[in-house]
Amino acid sequence: KRTVVLISGRGSNMAALIDAADDSAFPAEIVGVISDKAGAGGLGVAASKGIATRVVSRGDFPSKEAHDVAIDAALVELGAEIVCLAGYMRLLTTGFVEKWQGRMINIHPALLPLLKGLDTHQRALDAGFRIHGCTVHFVTAAMDDGPIIAQSAVPVLIGDDERTLSARVLGAEHALYPMALRLVAEGKVRMEGGRTVFSDFE
Ligand code: GRF
Repeated sequence: KRTVVLISGRGSNMAALIDAADDSAFPAEIVGVISDKAGAGGLGVAASKGIATRVVSRGDFPSKEAHDVAIDAALVELGAEIVCLAGYMRLLTTGFVEKWQGRMINIHPALLPLLKGLDTHQRALDAGFRIHGCTVHFVTAAMDDGPIIAQSAVPVLIGDDERTLSARVLGAEHALYPMALRLVAEGKVRMEGGRTVFSDFE
């Protein structure tokens, strides 16, 4: 399946997806990376791996809607069948989300539905969590709220700070996201009636 990754920053999850998809047996092919930030570090990483990149900056458009229309046009031009949000730091408009619903997934650095939104690692530490992790989910109009596809848990260790905890979660993200994309691309996981449906599992 032709897959496009949307980023805003360093793109380490994007790189994990590109590397996994480099294997010809992987059911998704990363055909492009779109960033809303011209300076996103991930753009150089993608280009160095031979992936097409596009920058679609919010500042070049009069409204959020017009920006999302331009991103949609870039996705169509790249022939996207699946969209992966990977550190894309902008809420998408309802029209855009509805168009791609069931074909667009996101990774969030927490065990949803706990800790939606930003700053998840510090909030996990502040709350005294002993377990933390990451979630891949289908994207719906509400932020970090769509049906869950896969999760990975990591321990919160005594003495952890935001840096050590986020690094441990990020390692889990890099394994989880390619696994979840594989399931979606294979059609073993799909979104139906607002829920995740799993099929063809032995
Ligand atoms: C990751 O922690 C991801 O879960 C969150 O933003 C961060 C992006 O990191 N949505 P990267 O750009 O993939 O390195």
